[in-house]
Order: sequence, then C-alpha cells, then structure tokens
Amino acid sequence: MRSISCRILKNNLLKCGNYKQLCYRNVSVTSFACEKAKRNLLGGPNLKDFFKNENLAMQENIPEEEVIPYLKDVKKFGGRRKVYFDVYGCQMNVNDTEIIWSILKSNNFLKTDDLNDADVVLIITCAIREGAETKIWNRLEYLKGIRNQKLKKSKNATPMKIGILGCMAERLKHKVLEIDQSVDLVAGPDSYKDLPRLLALTQNNQTAVNVLLSLDETYADIMPVRLNENSISAFVSIMRGCDNMCTYCIVPFTRGRERSRPISSILDEIKQLRDQGVKEITLLGQNVNSYRDLSESTVKTSTNLVKGFKTVYKTKVGGMRFADLLHRVAEVDPEIRIRFTSPHPKDFPDEVLQVIQSYPNMCKNLHLPAQSGNSNVLERMRRGYTREAYLELVDHVRRLLPNVAISSDFICGFCGETDEEFEDTLSLIERVGYNTAYLFPYSMREKTTAHRRYKDDVPQEVKQKRLDRMVELYRLHADRLNRQQIGNLQLVLIEGLSKRSSAFLAGRNEANIKVIIPGEDELSWKTGTEQRSIRQGDYVAVQINSANSQVLKGIPLYLTTLSDFYRDKYLYRDKIDNLKYSSIL
Ligand code: SAH
Ligand code: SF4
Ligand code: F3S
Repeated sequence: MRSISCRILKNNLLKCGNYKQLCYRNVSVTSFACEKAKRNLLGGPNLKDFFKNENLAMQENIPEEEVIPYLKDVKKFGGRRKVYFDVYGCQMNVNDTEIIWSILKSNNFLKTDDLNDADVVLIITCAIREGAETKIWNRLEYLKGIRNQKLKKSKNATPMKIGILGCMAERLKHKVLEIDQSVDLVAGPDSYKDLPRLLALTQNNQTAVNVLLSLDETYADIMPVRLNENSISAFVSIMRGCDNMCTYCIVPFTRGRERSRPISSILDEIKQLRDQGVKEITLLGQNVNSYRDLSESTVKTSTNLVKGFKTVYKTKVGGMRFADLLHRVAEVDPEIRIRFTSPHPKDFPDEVLQVIQSYPNMCKNLHLPAQSGNSNVLERMRRGYTREAYLELVDHVRRLLPNVAISSDFICGFCGETDEEFEDTLSLIERVGYNTAYLFPYSMREKTTAHRRYKDDVPQEVKQKRLDRMVELYRLHADRLNRQQIGNLQLVLIEGLSKRSSAFLAGRNEANIKVIIPGEDELSWKTGTEQRSIRQGDYVAVQINSANSQVLKGIPLYLTTLSDFYRDKYLYRDKIDNLKYSSIL
C-alpha cells in the first residue's frame, strides 16, 4: 500500500514540477513539502489514480482478460479519433512518433495527414535551441486558430485536442499549462505508453499531464509503426537519454538518464524491417555509441573510452557494447546498409572501427561532433577532450578507414568565446575537411550548467558573423570533397523520384550524400542482358559526373547488389578510390 500511495504522490508532484529531482535521484517519496503538491493532494486521488497505466508494468504477466476493467476501458478510448502528428527536432523524435503511433493505433486511434480533419493534434517538440521552441509557440497559435475556426463552423463540434509532447513538454510544463491554457495534454519523452489514458482524460475536458522521466523506459516492447511505410530507410532507437552533461545542452534534462535497449529486441525489430523490404537502417540514440546492454550476461568488462577522452560520469563496464551490437546488426542482412547517429567521439574504441571496417554494409561514414576547435572552449563545454585528442582520433579513424566520410556539429559564440578561440574552430574545420557539418550559433538554455555558471556574452551579431564564416568554410571543403568524386564509381541506394523533377531519381551514396540520376533509363545487371527501369530500393552503380557542396549527379551504369558492388570494388581497392572509373573498367 505504501508504494501505491507513493506513486500517487509522485503523480501529484508532477503537477508542481518537482518530480524531476525525485526521478533523477531515484528516491521514493515518503514526505512532501511543496505547497502546490499538497493542494493537488487535497483535491484527492480517486479510484482511477490507483489504476494508472504506469501500473501496467506490474501487470505484465497477467492475461489480457484478467486486466483490471478500468484499464480495459482505457483501451477503447481511442474511439477511432483521428490524430495528426506534427514532428519537430531530431530523428529520435521521428522514431518516437512511430512508437507513439504504434501505441495509439493499438488503442483504436486513426492517423490523418489532414490537419482540418484531425480530432487530436500531437506536436512532438524539440527544445535544443530557442529557435526550435519559438517555432512550436508559433505553431500552437496557428493550431488554436484552426480549432476556433472549426468551432465557429459547427457549434456542437467537439473541440480539437492539442497535445505538446517530447523535449519541450519536459522542459516547459509550467508555461504550457499555466500561461497557455489552450493545451489539453502534456507528455514527456518517457510517458508515451500513458498517452491512451491521458487522451482519455482530455475527453472530459481535463488537462492531462505526465512528464515523469524514467530510468529504464526504452520502449523495447513496442514495435514502432512507420509513418512512411513505403520508405526504404528506417530508424531504430537503441538507447535513450544522455549522461554526458555538456554544459550547453538541454538534452540530459529533457530526455533523462542514459539507458540501452536489449540487443534481442533491436535485432527482432531489424528483422521485421528487413521483411518489409527496408534497405537502410539508422541506429539512433542521443549518445548512440555509449550503448551497453547490461541485460546480456557476458564477462566483457572493458570500457568504451578512447585514450585522451574523459567523462563526468563513472564509465560503464560489463554487458554487450556498441561494437558487439554493430557486429550482430551487420549480420542480419548483408544487403541492408547500416548507419548510426548521434555518436560521441569518446566512444570510438578500435573494436567499433574494426567492425565498420570489416562489414561492407556498415557505411564508412562517421559523425564526429567536435562542437569547437579550441581546447579551452571544449573544457568550458565539458566535452571531455582537447583539440589535440579530437584530431588524433580523426587521424586514427582515417588510418583504419581510409576513405571514410566525416561529418560534425559545431557551435559558435559559446559563453566567453573569443575571436582567437573561434579561429581555432575554423582551423579545425579546415584541417579535417568535413563532408557534412551542422553548424549552430549558441543558444543559452535554462537549467544547463552554462546557464548557472557562465554568461551568454557573445553578442548576437558576432554569433551570426561567426556562423556565416563557419558555413562558408565548411561549404568550400564539402564542395572540394564532392568534386573529388567526379569520375568515380559509387554505390547509390535509390530512394525515389527527385523532389525537383520527376524525370530524375534521387538516392544516397555511402557517405549519405544525395545523388541525382536520370530516371528514364533502363538498366541491366552487370552480368546479364535483361533490362528494366530503376526502382526505389535498387542499388545502382553510378558514375559521378557533377558535384556541388550538397549534391552529386551521375550516370547510372548497372544494377547491382551491395555485396557484389563491394566485391568488385575490393578487387580494385587500390585503384578505385582515387582513380577514374574509366581506368578500372
Ligand atoms: N548527442 C549529440 C548531440 C545532440 S544535439 C552529440 O553529442 O553530438 C545536436 C547538436 O545541437 C549538438 O551536437 C550541438 O552542436 C547542438 N546544440 C546542442 N545544444 C545547443 C545549444 N544550447 N545551442 C546551440 N547548439 C546546440
Ligand atoms: Fe547534449 Fe552532450 Fe549529451 Fe550530446 S553528448 S546530447 S551534446 S549532453
Ligand atoms: Fe531536440 Fe530533444 Fe532531439 S531537444 S534535438 S528533440 S533530443
């Protein structure tokens, strides 16, 4: 009984916002001091509170027919209501939406792509920078307008429900609920299993909130339903949360502690995607390469940490590591390309690089987010490495994976960044030469260490000027690297029609750069005479004939498979990487 009453207390504390410390420190609640929580409690829990969906976990082994009737009712609450998803932020949010859709679909909700037709609009939000949040506030205004218009048209209509989900919900529950009272539902990234119940509450015009962060929720038991079932690419989340606490970053506060999903459930999902015809899988996590499946019993005890890198948390040992997972994932199907994002440079031990090296279907394309090229700024950012350690890693990666494509993230104008410190970022971009880079002006976030400890003292115009210089320099190098590909033979996975013209097809090369080819051509396999048109999901050998900093164009030569292409390529390994296509035919 004590544990149930504690849970109710927690639920009430949710409403006052003090829950996070409770959750983070994993302490059970035995007393409370917060006035607001007291008031909420005086409102008093009722019978329903005893049967919240989060208690389902305790009932996992109970057969469906024996589940408490109240929860069965909750299942019916979808009532074929139509949900419109409005997704912002990173790929994790896209994949989370697929988890949400899976949960709602099995609870009798429908999905609509027409906002005007929606009974419920769920905004899956991002809080990484102020701009990301401004977008959501503007969107909220727009949605309120649509809701009012609908009500004007039909006075008896049930008002469209609006839900704020994801990272911003986690961060701004007060503002969303108290200042902007037009929101019906607020749910953080770890409470999506609770959505059917929360949406049921909104039916009675109650505002429903669950922003509790979890130490172990990985949604391993939910098979996501893809939003675009025709796509040949899919995301698979392998871990959630982040323990790194970079001083500028809100993610550890919005997504909570790091936890990994068991290998077996990841492999099951990948096999299912393979059976649906998926050809490219991107493993996802806020810190994807610190993956560690502690549920697998194994004697391995090493840490992942690369020499010269350190963390603020105790390094994890034991369990199955990222390298073990990659190895198992690569083996599922040699024709499925594997990528992963977003990694941290500290977690690239040789075992990981060796797996990437030894499987042709592991894309030789690494994201190595540097954030800054100056060791003092990196120290203030608490990234756990110096400029020298980062460059040593880049050189090491290039020794093991000679033609690897490298991408990165950079922030300019972080607290106290001087002109000289910023010049070091430019010189790092120059020295490494990135195929792709995501460049951001610093945006101060509340709750972060930087907010408490430093001053956001680089003026906005200076940030903008620095950003422009980073963009210019990065483009110059991306353009140069892409032009070096002219004449080369590349394996392109066809994604569909080009957005600009239906006479062209678009696909991606191993470096994840878009490649455009003429669409009307009929092609044959390398050995064989039968010709057919190129389809989505085909691997095509393409000779690159033009390039800019973002896109390559080329001539399709023949249909192939991933294994055949790299078998041919490895035969010519010394030549093909640098020589022109004509010289190896
Ligand atoms: N886990 C990933 C990053 C996730 S956030 C990693 O460590 O690389 C994606 C990117 O947003 C970060 O790499 C960083 O470049 C940028 N970013 C994060 N917080 C920011 C802030 N407060 N202002 C500007 N950019 C930020
Ligand atoms: Fe944010 Fe750093 Fe974690 Fe990336 S590693 S999500 S930048 S705290
Ligand atoms: Fe944004 Fe949350 Fe992703 S803050 S970048 S949606 S983890």
